[in-house]
Amino acid sequence: MRYPLVIGNWKLNGSRHMVSELIAVLRNELSIVTGCDVAIAPPMVYLDLAQYHLSGSQIALGAQNVDTHLSGAFTGEVSAEMLKDIGAKYIIIGHSERRTYHKESDAFIAEKFAVLKEVGLIPVLCIGESESEKKAGQTEIVCAHQIDAILNRLGKKAFESSVIAYEPIWAIGTGKFSAPKQAQAVHKFIRDYIAKHDAVVAEQVIIQYGGSVNTGNAAEMLTQPDIDGVLVGGASLKAETFAVIVKETAKAKLA
Ligand code: PGA
Repeated sequence: MRYPLVIGNWKLNGSRHMVSELIAVLRNELSIVTGCDVAIAPPMVYLDLAQYHLSGSQIALGAQNVDTHLSGAFTGEVSAEMLKDIGAKYIIIGHSERRTYHKESDAFIAEKFAVLKEVGLIPVLCIGESESEKKAGQTEIVCAHQIDAILNRLGKKAFESSVIAYEPIWAIGTGKFSAPKQAQAVHKFIRDYIAKHDAVVAEQVIIQYGGSVNTGNAAEMLTQPDIDGVLVGGASLKAETFAVIVKETAKAKLA
């Protein structure tokens, strides 16, 4: 059975103060919530502090990026082993902001996926189409292409113990929200596509939805059978709001 998963992607936001305050409130709000895995992914520089404040809680630590190398002369980078060393569990890769602003290719993202698997961390692979690709009816082609890059690099079991986040680019940070049935159709396509390679892996891979998720729209999205959780950006920056989304996820998935 797939376990629901909610991750907060803080992007380039936060401070030492916010890390300690937000985690304190979140721990309190979620202390008796069961039925949903939760992680927060603050900026790299705060990961160690976040882990300190998370210790002993059920909230896991995530990161927003990783380098393809494990060590060496790669100025400015952070390796999968370092992330593991400080206790991170889920690592977001392939986010559309990194594909766009840092020109990350499918092949490069597949290398990141590979190094995370090698070290034993859980990749959260973001995929999704742009507005123009959606209008051109290319959503499935785009998602399939992004998934193929991983399957070609790592084989049919690539998505074992991994997470995929379907994030239509037009929905990220825009307040535009995909209709739940429409998102479900894409999630089902993704699962069926992976099933063509390995049915067991397809059945267990967690597929999150992301893009303008908030307290008003999460619940309906999570009633869809192939939507296993959410990747939350803006709405994860307030502990109370993020906690409501986690509680709604647990409720929707237990129902
Ligand atoms: P958003 O971001 O919730 O602010 O739209 C989601 C994401 O980019 O992961």
